[in-house]
Amino acid sequence: MSELVRFSVAMPDGLLMQFDNLVARRGLAKNRSEVVRDLVREALVDEEWDDPDTEIVGTLTIVFNHHATDLQAKLDSVQHKHHEKIISAMHVHLDAHNCLEVIILRGRSADVRAIADAILGVKGVKHGRLTATTTGQYL
Ligand code: NI
Repeated sequence: MSELVRFSVAMPDGLLMQFDNLVARRGLAKNRSEVVRDLVREALVDEEWDDPDTEIVGTLTIVFNHHATDLQAKLDSVQHKHHEKIISAMHVHLDAHNCLEVIILRGRSADVRAIADAILGVKGVKHGRLTATTTGQYL
């Protein structure tokens, strides 16, 4: 665990009031310092993702209708092609027709984005989103 260092921050009172509202919305377990640390980590993760060569972790969530012709087979085919970068996948049967998959990817930012685009580009995927997170190597 790294040592905590104190520093002071100056900001306009209106911005501080909005920040304190944000801190309050995040609940009792978070104080100003915790939320500042979270925001700094968020900025660092965004920066990691901007660098195509940095190793990152992302979760891709997709929703699709499994009745669509060959859709499940096409999705499986893309995932098998990139098996070394797909850590895990979870399939949930939402109802009689719709399926949800959460796919966890790890690799170069550019590769993870390309795989996510390939999966999102499969005809029949109705909704999907890639969420950026981090391996934690810089945090
Ligand atoms: Ni299903």
